[in-house]
Amino acid sequence: MEILAFGVQSDEKPLIERAFEGLHEVRCLDVFLNRDTAPIAAGHEIISTSVNADLSAPVLQTLAAGGTQMIAQRSTGFNNIDLEVAERLALRVARVSYYSPYSVAEFAWTLAMAVNRRIIRAASRTRDFDFRLDGLLGRDMRGRTAGVLGTGKIGEAFTRIAHGFGMKLLGWDVVENPACVELGMEYVEKERLFAEADLISLHVPLLPATQHIIDEGALKAMKDDAILVNSSRGGLIDTSALVTELRAGRFLGVGLDVYEAEAGLFFLDKSLEGIDDDTLARLVTFPNVVVTSHQAYYTEDAVGQIIDATVENVTDYLARRHSENVLVPRTP
Ligand SMILES: NC(=O)c1ccc[n+]([C@@H]2O[C@H](COP(=O)([O-])OP(=O)(O)OC[C@H]3O[C@@H](n4cnc5c(N)ncnc54)[C@H](O)[C@@H]3O)[C@@H](O)[C@H]2O)c1
Repeated sequence: MEILAFGVQSDEKPLIERAFEGLHEVRCLDVFLNRDTAPIAAGHEIISTSVNADLSAPVLQTLAAGGTQMIAQRSTGFNNIDLEVAERLALRVARVSYYSPYSVAEFAWTLAMAVNRRIIRAASRTRDFDFRLDGLLGRDMRGRTAGVLGTGKIGEAFTRIAHGFGMKLLGWDVVENPACVELGMEYVEKERLFAEADLISLHVPLLPATQHIIDEGALKAMKDDAILVNSSRGGLIDTSALVTELRAGRFLGVGLDVYEAEAGLFFLDKSLEGIDDDTLARLVTFPNVVVTSHQAYYTEDAVGQIIDATVENVTDYLARRHSENVLVPRTP
């Protein structure tokens, strides 16, 4: 049986082929799953999808009509999947519930320090043999306050690094993480976190309760010279409101690895045709903003773990075994 893998990056292809070798046949496609590409899956009982796959109701219906029974999603987040519809269509959907949280936490810190120390501007200047320091003034992190929204696996890894920098730690979550408390984190109301943090990093999942958790009010409550980093999901931030605040000259820096309208843009080369998204186009023009295209997880370690877990998810499905990675059916 051939497994069809959508949205495979060129770096991932040999890793996927090696991991499936001798177990299951796999065909890798670089196209992402969406309404236009869903018909390609016809006749494939098992498909694998990438983080930006469109697994909304119409796509799931096309897949089910074409004979697909199992979807192995190669990510932790599953806000792109209509689970209710998938369950109604008797599809089995599995995700990867664990892979290196350090990949994302370290990247969040990379963004934070890139905007703090003006690395992008500095590097483009030296490439132009302009060796001045004007405009490159950053600040020490030691002694400053980190505010972490969501202190699960990635939030905890982020907090450990903040602790290493010698920062004061504020956290906000629906449950306290004892490991963070042990590092000295104080759990506070998010209003206090916004008001006091010099660096705010988002690590909550995207849920109805967290959609636009960083709205106009939250942005206005933050320090004018705060650093804001989002490596979780774009929908956590009201991007138009963020652009308004940036236009007003606020924030020392903003690092974004995710964007609420990233589907159809991120992971694709739009350099020749340009983009039709004025918000994103404006966002990348601010000198204090760095945008990357959902690459926080993209380390050899994390990608390797994601692929291994995907092979396991497929093997479990074929053996009719349940696992904690199975999202639907909810009961074994
Ligand atoms: N950019 C990337 O490449 C990338 C990669 C992996 C994960 N992510 C994102 O990072 C997020 C966090 O991943 P994780 O592995 O740390 O997840 P996790 O489940 O370990 O942690 C999530 C934390 O958020 C908290 N939380 C959940 N709902 C909440 C709510 N309504 N209000 C406040 N807190 C809430 C939970 O209590 C938990 O502590 C994922 O959901 C995903 O969206 C991004």
